[in-house]
Amino acid sequence: MIKEYIQTNRQRFLDELFELLRIPSVSADSRHKADVRKAAEYLVQKLKAAGADKATLCETAGHPIVYAEKLVNPALPTVLVYGHYDVQPPDPLNLWTSPPFEPVVKDEKIYARGACDDKGQVYMHLKAFEAMMHLNLLTCNIKFMIEGEEEVGSDNLGTFVKENRAMLKADVILISDTSLISLSTPSITVGLRGLSYLEVEVTGPNRDLHSGVYGGAVANPINILSKMIASLHDENGRITIPGFYDKVAELTANEREALNRAPFQLDTYKKELAIAEIQGEKGYTTLERTGIRPTLDCNGIWGGYTGEGAKTVLPSKASAKISMRLVPNQSNHEITELFTKHFKSIAPNSVKVKVTALHGGEPAVTPTNSRAYAAASSAFEEVWGKTPIPTRDGGSIPIVSLFKKELGLDTVLMGFGLDSDAIHSPNEHYGIKNFMVGIETIVAFYKHFGKVVN
Ligand code: BES
Ligand code: MN
Ligand code: MN
Repeated sequence: MIKEYIQTNRQRFLDELFELLRIPSVSADSRHKADVRKAAEYLVQKLKAAGADKATLCETAGHPIVYAEKLVNPALPTVLVYGHYDVQPPDPLNLWTSPPFEPVVKDEKIYARGACDDKGQVYMHLKAFEAMMHLNLLTCNIKFMIEGEEEVGSDNLGTFVKENRAMLKADVILISDTSLISLSTPSITVGLRGLSYLEVEVTGPNRDLHSGVYGGAVANPINILSKMIASLHDENGRITIPGFYDKVAELTANEREALNRAPFQLDTYKKELAIAEIQGEKGYTTLERTGIRPTLDCNGIWGGYTGEGAKTVLPSKASAKISMRLVPNQSNHEITELFTKHFKSIAPNSVKVKVTALHGGEPAVTPTNSRAYAAASSAFEEVWGKTPIPTRDGGSIPIVSLFKKELGLDTVLMGFGLDSDAIHSPNEHYGIKNFMVGIETIVAFYKHFGKVVN
């Protein structure tokens, strides 16, 4: 019945998603402020049409939050669906094979910014809701909270959650904003890394200088910054900041073995990225390096002359953006402090260093022994014919730890993307198969979760 409904309405579902994907809701870019709002309004309209009792735009100090609910029966469990309708900037535009906000289907995949992260995945929940309303299958109360600032650090979500505790009361948070191992090996994400994101600025002389007149005698901030960044890893791929690993939760041999049982093909991995060799912290596998180990990466670096041709200049300043992915039990604020102290300490006297924390979030692990996890697992078994493997993802969704802290709620991370979907990159895409089977699995989750409680 549900399969038939999804198949019959397939084209309309896709048309509606395409309309959402055409709205360039880039939260980081103030020129798109009105578009971000437009995407929120579109979701409100579609939630109402699907049968929500209430669907509204909630104003915040930044972009609005979409809230909707359908309360069928107070005796039934309540699921709070979280997602985000904002997207990453599409740059660099010239690397897209079709324009980022003009969705197209190629090889059964939808190409557009936000196709997977997270509009396509959010839209599965709207259509699962619509299907359950239409077929009278809803066995849970549903609440939706879809924000427009996830890609810029969810600055206003914390306040919203604190101010609306009663409205957000639920039994579990359900999120589709992560990836599967593959379409033949379903998985449920049970861990996400945290994040500390900083900007550093190194200042040498009070102005740009002629690199012939002064070069060799005055410190060059770019040379120095590069050396400082390079020194943050040792020859074993370990981060050199004192105290950085002090609180890192070490997994038991059994846990590591379980994690490494997930299928991983090194050849395919390298081929897909066009790299000859992988790298990383000595003593850990690739799955461990991205799942349970903390990292430090330079995300951007600039300074001096970068225009056409040559300009012989010894720059006054050099800057970089640095992200650190954190694992349990590291904390964003502590790591930011350790970084700042260390980075300043390794700077030579010839330069001044400024460190600014931009944003961050705490790591999260979700339980595998909860009723909600069991319902998600049964949903996959029913629809995919396979038991999903619990996995640790390397990305961050900082609000997962916030929900636990503020609402006391655990999250089920039932994502349907693939690591190869190019999220945050040019040519982001999302498989139509993932979208369709995702809707079916979400509906099955409600069926099982509605059954298991009380
Ligand atoms: N959906 C991603 C996070 C993600 C992707 C988790 C793939 C697991 C697998 C989310 O939209 C995201 O991009 N988060 C940011 C953090 C945020 C604070 C900007 C990230 O991970 O960089
Ligand atoms: Mn996302
Ligand atoms: Mn993202």
